[in-house]
Amino acid sequence: MTPLNVEEFRALAKRRLPRGMFEYVDRGTEDEVGMRAVRNGLEDAKLRPQVLVDVSAPDLSTVVLDDTLQMPVIVAPTGGAGMLWHDGEVQLARAARHAGIPFCVATQSITSMEEIADRARGANLWFQLYLFEDREIAWQLLARAKALGIRNLLFTVDTQRHPKKEWINRSGFRVPIRPSLVGAMDLLAHPRWTLDVLARYLLTTGIPCFAHYPPEFHTPITRVTKQVNVRLARKLTWDDFEQVRNRWDGNLVVKGVMKRQDAERAAALGADGIVVSCHGGRNMDASPPALQVLPEIADAVGGKLTVLADSGIRRGSHIAKFLAAGARAVLVGRAPLYGVAAAGEHGARAVLEILRDELDNCMAFTGQSQASAISRDVLV
Ligand SMILES: Cc1cc2nc3c(=O)[nH]c(=O)nc-3n(C[C@H](O)[C@H](O)[C@H](O)COP(=O)(O)O)c2cc1C
Repeated sequence: MTPLNVEEFRALAKRRLPRGMFEYVDRGTEDEVGMRAVRNGLEDAKLRPQVLVDVSAPDLSTVVLDDTLQMPVIVAPTGGAGMLWHDGEVQLARAARHAGIPFCVATQSITSMEEIADRARGANLWFQLYLFEDREIAWQLLARAKALGIRNLLFTVDTQRHPKKEWINRSGFRVPIRPSLVGAMDLLAHPRWTLDVLARYLLTTGIPCFAHYPPEFHTPITRVTKQVNVRLARKLTWDDFEQVRNRWDGNLVVKGVMKRQDAERAAALGADGIVVSCHGGRNMDASPPALQVLPEIADAVGGKLTVLADSGIRRGSHIAKFLAAGARAVLVGRAPLYGVAAAGEHGARAVLEILRDELDNCMAFTGQSQASAISRDVLV
């Protein structure tokens, strides 16, 4: 049966992926209060219907950092997406290309940015940067992104610690992955994934690695975090931001800003954009939903830089709510991941098409003919 919405793709992904892998994508941290708040906040926000407006030719396109997007959506950076489907990142990039929107390559991608650029030729690629304890590694990644012609950099600054994901202790899916009976049973219970993804990697390129780690640290995800140099930086300050700014002459977008003062400081120090994000409820469980803090932040800095936002988007109406609250465009993380996990490029394409159609519908009911002009008064 063809899935009709993102939730149905989620159900397919759940069936196909090993439990540990599905939970890695799907779940939050601690008591998952933050994730529930994200969901409730999006459901509680209401849009005002408006009638007798010509919405026969809606324009969903928008301009973000000089790029025209066919809809106000960017495929978010998600580490390890290549484990959900063989070459998952390439499939996601192709799906984004088909939808006329950017795909943001993650630092912790299984496939390198060069290979994604080559195999999804013509895709609009952004790059997401994490800083490691060894800053040199990051500076080399910036040089590689620049050499590829990537212009937009998302610098993620909201992951100063490993989030507390207690369920990982039960599923056995931690990085580095350790062989365990639970893990082995999980693989046996999901033979399609084990054969189509894991076995295919093992028979072609070997045990999957984090592709952007330098060769000397190019260890499989079964071992990687034991090495201090490639651990995410625990000390991350505005000095680091300034260093990144000095080294990157393209557009610099700070991802994970949730406080007005931080947004103002980013603007003052030369950021071109921010992503108002609570990391999909995956980092700090006590965080408010991004949608809740977005209006204040957008009002403060919307005139100075590009405001993007994410967390929790599963419906086109959710996109409209973020736009009305002040975002120029949104990022979607789990939604396309469910699609790629269920059916590769076709699944991710289908998810993006569903979101597009739902946004179109929602714009019609709210009397909006232009996505880039949706304003605050649409929110009740
Ligand atoms: C499996 C997974 C891995 C992620 N990895 C990263 C990452 O490496 N870097 C990053 O900045 N954000 C990462 N994120 C967060 C997303 O970029 C995005 O902020 C979040 O998924 C948005 O919420 P949503 O999943 O509800 O759409 C990840 C999200 C998921 C689901």
